[in-house]
Amino acid sequence: MRIVLVGPPGAGKGTQAAFLAKNLSIPHISTGDLFRANINRGTDLGKRAKAYMDAGDLVPDEVTIGMAEDRLDRPDASEGFLLDGFPRNEHQARALDAYLARHEIALDGVLDLEVPEDEVVKRIAGRRICRNDSAHVFHVEYKQPKTEGVCDECGGELYRRDDDAPDKVRNRLEIYHRETEPIIDYYKKQGLVVTISALGPVAEVTGRAMAALHAGA
Ligand code: AP5
Ligand code: ZN
Repeated sequence: MRIVLVGPPGAGKGTQAAFLAKNLSIPHISTGDLFRANINRGTDLGKRAKAYMDAGDLVPDEVTIGMAEDRLDRPDASEGFLLDGFPRNEHQARALDAYLARHEIALDGVLDLEVPEDEVVKRIAGRRICRNDSAHVFHVEYKQPKTEGVCDECGGELYRRDDDAPDKVRNRLEIYHRETEPIIDYYKKQGLVVTISALGPVAEVTGRAMAALHAGA
């Protein structure tokens, strides 16, 4: 299956993507995680992305689209993928469509996670991620690690993302409404969108997502 996951910052895209990718045996491709891994490794791409990410702004399309396409070109994505955080504006959506057309493949569905803004703010305020791998995600209340401040999966140190500070979150939410929400309409015109509520326990949301994808995609 080829799926795009959309939803506001803090909706639980990364959390759900980990389970969905496993259930569907497809790679989870998060542009946010790819950028953070590049920043950790000190690559040129990471250096170009860092200031934008720290401010909660979008990284320019010319950097992002190339990085996403390089990742999609890898053999593990040839039979399917779950894209998380890409595309994030209409220009990126058009670039993805062009990529898919060049490869004579198509999306099976766009899963839209709906969460009220007050819940998103709570989820982001308590989020802690791992220094070694930003896909290892915890929450001070909803998903506590066994030992405070330590990642259950690899023993790495947990910390708060720089862009999770309240003023950055406001900016990210504004950008989401302005730049990213319009792609939901773009994909609705292609008949691809399935919308689910992402409220409630993580496993329940995963169940809802699996049912929606099988029914709608
Ligand atoms: P990115 O990393 O994609 O950030 P985001 O879209 O803002 O999404 P988040 O990672 O904040 O949230 P999430 O929805 O994955 O939630 P999570 O599962 O962690 O992008 C970061 C930056 O990179 C961007 O601002 C931009 O600068 C750049 N970037 C990335 N892609 C780009 C692109 N295409 N173009 C340009 N720039 C780009 O969950 C949040 C918290 O809630 C966690 O603590 C979790 O434990 C908890 N939680 C999850 N589900 C539940 C539940 N059901 N109940 C209770 N708690 C829950
Ligand atoms: Zn870890």
